[in-house]
Amino acid sequence: MKIIHISAECYPVAKVGGLADVVGALPKYLNNSGVYSQVFMPFYDNKFTKTNHFDTIYSSEVFLGETTYKFNILVLQDSTLDFDVFFVDIPDLLFKDYVYSYEDTERFLAFQIATLDWLLTWHDYPDVIHCHDHHTGLIPFMLQESFKYEDFRHIPSILTIHNAQYQGWFPHDKVHLIPAFNFDNVGLLDWGGTINPLAAAIKCAWRVSTVSPTYMEELKKNANGLESLLSAEGAKCSGILNGIDTDVWNPETDEFLIENYTINTVNKGAKANKKHLCDAFNLDENKPLFAFIGRLVHQKGTDLFPEIFKNALKNNDLNILLLGSGDPYLEDSLNALKTEFEGNYNTYIGYDEKLSHIIYAGADFLLMPSRVEPCGLNQMYSLRYGTIPIVTKIGGLKDTVIDIEETNGFGFCHDTTNVAEINETINRAVKLYSTPSKYKKLRTQIMTIDHSWHASAQQYINLYNSIN
Ligand code: ADP
Ligand code: GLC
Repeated sequence: MKIIHISAECYPVAKVGGLADVVGALPKYLNNSGVYSQVFMPFYDNKFTKTNHFDTIYSSEVFLGETTYKFNILVLQDSTLDFDVFFVDIPDLLFKDYVYSYEDTERFLAFQIATLDWLLTWHDYPDVIHCHDHHTGLIPFMLQESFKYEDFRHIPSILTIHNAQYQGWFPHDKVHLIPAFNFDNVGLLDWGGTINPLAAAIKCAWRVSTVSPTYMEELKKNANGLESLLSAEGAKCSGILNGIDTDVWNPETDEFLIENYTINTVNKGAKANKKHLCDAFNLDENKPLFAFIGRLVHQKGTDLFPEIFKNALKNNDLNILLLGSGDPYLEDSLNALKTEFEGNYNTYIGYDEKLSHIIYAGADFLLMPSRVEPCGLNQMYSLRYGTIPIVTKIGGLKDTVIDIEETNGFGFCHDTTNVAEINETINRAVKLYSTPSKYKKLRTQIMTIDHSWHASAQQYINLYNSIN
């Protein structure tokens, strides 16, 4: 069986968030299980493309309404990746030093059309086309409806929803950019009066998955306007929990860490990483270290941090370290706290892969007060590195973390994203930390939890088999 994954992100080539980690790992695990998997993604102007060499294997033109753009398909020379990646290079549209912007309609539409145009030249079509998020959401529609792609009608498509907040909306006056189709079916593209690529994919894909079972259930009640559609399409929808790449995320071998460690040496190893963080960020290594890593956006609950942090730092003996970027106003408010809590609080506003690994290893607790979390990978990385997660009981967080006060519990959960509840949960964590024997035992216990891709990859294989 041959699967093609189409995605805007793929680790280590281009990463904004968890989508990259998933598309950078799942194909490897599928290949290991004998399901041949390849990735198609845009060619961006970033560190990866600047520091690697590529061969052009195909060149043509892509038509977007009246405009024609040149495109090339590139492959890596001497690839060290675990699976084939085909880069769709559209110099005038995609080749930017960012992945997403506010003008993505043309960029990602051209990417999707160029991808299918090139696939038309293949002798051996894939058995399944697996699309990730709205950036590739018009593909299931085009496979089903565009006259140009009639040869592809029999190829099953899958949409995986990593985040239904973003749907790729664009106005009807751009519909002519999509390769010609029977206009009687334009309704398949429409949701609520605009063109909605995510809705179109939910309607046209043969199967729809979300990245955790709980998130799928949540979406049927609240999906930023798509809830009734998801309920109506329920029969073809399922939730498959993401896994983590345990080769990349392994404290024993992780090259980013200050000191590597195993379950037997976690106390010493994690301490060395904590010391490094405390030295680098002027924190107190004798106090528990609470950390956050992620995007500073409403979804993640981070707008509550200034108040939560003030309460926590005033009332407890602890440190807080935040790594992230996003809302500029929030970045400023978080930075403004540094003077008041110097020595116990710091931020790194930006994106830093290496630092994130050291934090997963060196922090004592990881905060994830998300309002919406389709899956969340951070909590699974932190578990593997022996750092105790503190999460809101929603989406994938609910599926992966059990509160310590429940049977077989090992983390801290609060029911909703509000300041009082989160501060209360932080207090519970501080209390646990004050009994070192309990804290250390829990640390080793969580490192044994298996969140590798093996089980989830098998569920995707079952899904592929069900439509082949
Ligand atoms: P989302 O995709 O919604 O941002 P996930 O939990 O699925 O959330 O994945 C986030 C991924 O991005 C993780 O690999 C996390 O370590 C990484 N990440 C997020 N923000 C940063 C940052 N500022 N620096 C380094 N890595 C980050
Ligand atoms: C999205 C979600 C996140 C999920 C990731 C990978 O970015 O916000 O919860 O883990 O995709 O599926």
